[in-house]
Amino acid sequence: MTPILRHTADLRTTVAGWKAAGQVVGVVPTMGALHAGHLSLVRTARETCDRVIVTIFVNPTQFNNPADLARYPRTEDADAALLSTAGVDLIFAPTPEQVYPPGFATRIAVTGTSDAWEGTHRPGHFDAVATVVAKLFGMTQADHAYFGEKDWQQLAVVRHLVADLNLPVTITGCPTLRDPDGLAMSSRNARLSPAARHAAPALHNAMQHAAKSIHNGAPPAPALDAAHRTILSAGFTHIDYLALTDPATLAPTDTLPARLLAAAWLDGIRLIDNIPV
Ligand code: PAF
Repeated sequence: MTPILRHTADLRTTVAGWKAAGQVVGVVPTMGALHAGHLSLVRTARETCDRVIVTIFVNPTQFNNPADLARYPRTEDADAALLSTAGVDLIFAPTPEQVYPPGFATRIAVTGTSDAWEGTHRPGHFDAVATVVAKLFGMTQADHAYFGEKDWQQLAVVRHLVADLNLPVTITGCPTLRDPDGLAMSSRNARLSPAARHAAPALHNAMQHAAKSIHNGAPPAPALDAAHRTILSAGFTHIDYLALTDPATLAPTDTLPARLLAAAWLDGIRLIDNIPV
């Protein structure tokens, strides 16, 4: 089994040994409840790095809603078994006290990239993500870090964070993994009822249809309006946003290439997705 460390000091000792031997260290930061999408990040990490760490930490500060935090799936035994099979060298699963000791007082805000979309609907979320990711980089001392494109805005925020703070880590974004019907893999999908799971791919299908029309020259606004209607008629109850954005700055745009971002509610679950246009 892959060893699980819970204390930063132990992690630093192990990583120092690897680095002294000239080994390149990669990290895949996660909140656990691992699925094939996470394992694809691990596979990519193993291609570039001599040693791969997976962090499992359900970061309480990045949840806007205490009920969502309480409901977040925690499956450490199953996660550890998957990571052992995947050949991960080390699991770092710190306690909240290790990450946020008494007196913890720092918050990192990546302005601009964080502001719209998820930032509007989840105030403070990206400050919490940027802060914990900077901490995880400091704790693991990783040379490379791997993030899913599923959370496109998070990836953009992390890239900005690393550039602005000259953090010595190279960020790699990895393509979203999807179920055969197109639904983007997410730990939250497990909470969908069978009927909602059946309806869920409508989000990605409508986005793809809109992306294709826009790519073929249709004006974005009516294409997005049509997608909006299709998503709601499939059973989604609310769309937080469906927007064509600049892939790096996330500013709204009508210019291609762009990234189409969406967040919508189905059966009380908030699903997000994004695709290139
Ligand atoms: O994407 C996630 O799972 C989390 O936001 C991350 C990057 C592990 C930070 O808690």
